[in-house]
Amino acid sequence: MKPQAKEPSPARVPEVPVDPQFLDRWSRRALSSAPLTTEEINSLFEAARWAPSSCNDQPWLFLYARKEPGLSRFRSLLMPQNRTWADRAPLLVLTLARRHYAHNGQPNRHYMFDTGAAWMSLALQARKLGLFTRAMGAFDEARAYKALGIAPERYEAVCMIAVGRPGEPAQLPPSLAAKETPALRKPLAEVAREWSNPGGE
Ligand SMILES: Cc1cc2nc3c(=O)[nH]c(=O)nc-3n(C[C@H](O)[C@H](O)[C@H](O)COP(=O)(O)O)c2cc1C
Repeated sequence: MKPQAKEPSPARVPEVPVDPQFLDRWSRRALSSAPLTTEEINSLFEAARWAPSSCNDQPWLFLYARKEPGLSRFRSLLMPQNRTWADRAPLLVLTLARRHYAHNGQPNRHYMFDTGAAWMSLALQARKLGLFTRAMGAFDEARAYKALGIAPERYEAVCMIAVGRPGEPAQLPPSLAAKETPALRKPLAEVAREWSNPGGE
């Protein structure tokens, strides 16, 4: 396994100590087009495979493209603003979530939650390999079902993901190059609080 690439992230300071991997993951648009190895690609999905899920249903399905003609087809699903940078990515992934439980065919209320957990495992494993990911919700979902032969009544096309080694921000359109920096977060107190006031907000 390759060592984790060190990225400067001066703006990201945790309020309380936390494992650095959570700050080291950020969504880079500047990706190199250098291909990924089969070992790297399998390692990403292996990490996703171990995510927790309701009834251990594992509702996620990752379809990916790493060579032609798959890459061109996956790119064609992206909205234009994402194509300006994601066309360079050597790996494009479509994340699907199965709507019904496999064991009884009943609707699975948790399929999106579970699939989100699997994507985060993939994203963290990518950083362990020195790779970066960026999720992309801006894609043509309706076209994805048709173009990739997916049954929409079985699976929801949740999100696409670009994966690659770090590339040069100078290759991005100037407006995106200026934003190529890790995003910050809301204060901790805004996202988690001890419940204490049943009559309050
Ligand atoms: C479900 C989802 C959809 C997203 N869609 C897009 C997108 O279409 N294009 C894009 O450039 N970034 C997209 N992002 C990336 C987010 O903007 C990014 O994760 C967020 O700003 C936080 O930054 P960080 O991931 O660097 O911490 C998406 C992220 C998620 C989780």
